[in-house]
Amino acid sequence: MTTDSPHNLITAERICVRFGGVEVLHDVSLFVRPGEIVTILGPNGSGKSTLIRALLGIIPVAHGHVARAPGLRLGYVPQKLAVDRSMPMTVRRFLSLPVRVSDAAAAEVLRRVGVEGLEQRQMAALSGGQFQRVLLARALLSDPQLLILDEPTQGLDQPGEAAFYQLIEAVRKQTGAAVLMVSHDLHVVMAASDRVICLNGHVCCEGTPRVVSNAPEYRALFGLGTKGALALYQHDHDHAHDHDQGHGHDHSHPHQTHEHSHAG
Ligand SMILES: Nc1ncnc2c1ncn2[C@@H]1O[C@H](COP(=O)(O)OP(=O)(O)OP(=O)(O)O)[C@@H](O)[C@H]1O
Ligand SMILES: [Mg+2]
Repeated sequence: MTTDSPHNLITAERICVRFGGVEVLHDVSLFVRPGEIVTILGPNGSGKSTLIRALLGIIPVAHGHVARAPGLRLGYVPQKLAVDRSMPMTVRRFLSLPVRVSDAAAAEVLRRVGVEGLEQRQMAALSGGQFQRVLLARALLSDPQLLILDEPTQGLDQPGEAAFYQLIEAVRKQTGAAVLMVSHDLHVVMAASDRVICLNGHVCCEGTPRVVSNAPEYRALFGLGTKGALALYQHDHDHAHDHDQGHGHDHSHPHQTHEHSHAG
């Protein structure tokens, strides 16, 4: 799969990121095209947020390079907010940070994300789902071509997650924005993504949700069986890393599919 295209909104080519002497990302390539929903999956500490921050230019890369389309309009929701959630602040005021928006624009964007009329509510008084929707609302105010969401469903229960992903899908449909998001929520992600990238310091596998969920690298990373897909396992790095990009697409050996067993 070619990563370098003039049509990409954002492209990372073989980037490495180091903190001190420690290489946290090794040879990671990734691209997002207009209108796509791409999800990065990986265990805690696998470098997902670091990758996002490198893509945004917040942290430098030691090797490789990142290209963003000229004039790219980005909406970013970080995993952790610089704003303390317990700080007294209304939703209306939060939407005007750092760029002031009109009352009409604030009302409209809240309506779009399904939390109409919450302007005067304190941020600290919002439910988890409302809070994440307000974060998304703020990211939408710049009319982004690319939304970058780092664990946008943190703190939500399963129905809340599912509803949130439906909302993201609706936003994509309305605005045509591409979405690059980080998640742990395998099932919903699988349903809501065009492409999935499994990261563990390097790209373990990538492709359509169907291809990735059958890739041995993915199975090693997330485990299988009775504990369910939400059980995260440390990846034991038993596969070789020195082959080309895009492995996970063409595994020709038969996969064991546990999903399709028929009882009786
Ligand atoms: N500013 C930093 N300085 C030093 N090390 C860092 C820094 N930021 C991240 N790291 C380290 O880089 C590794 C990857 O961190 P990162 O936050 O990207 O992981 P993640 O995949 O987003 O994890 P999580 O699922 O917990 O959010 C971790 O070992 C982390 O300790
Ligand atoms: Mg993270």
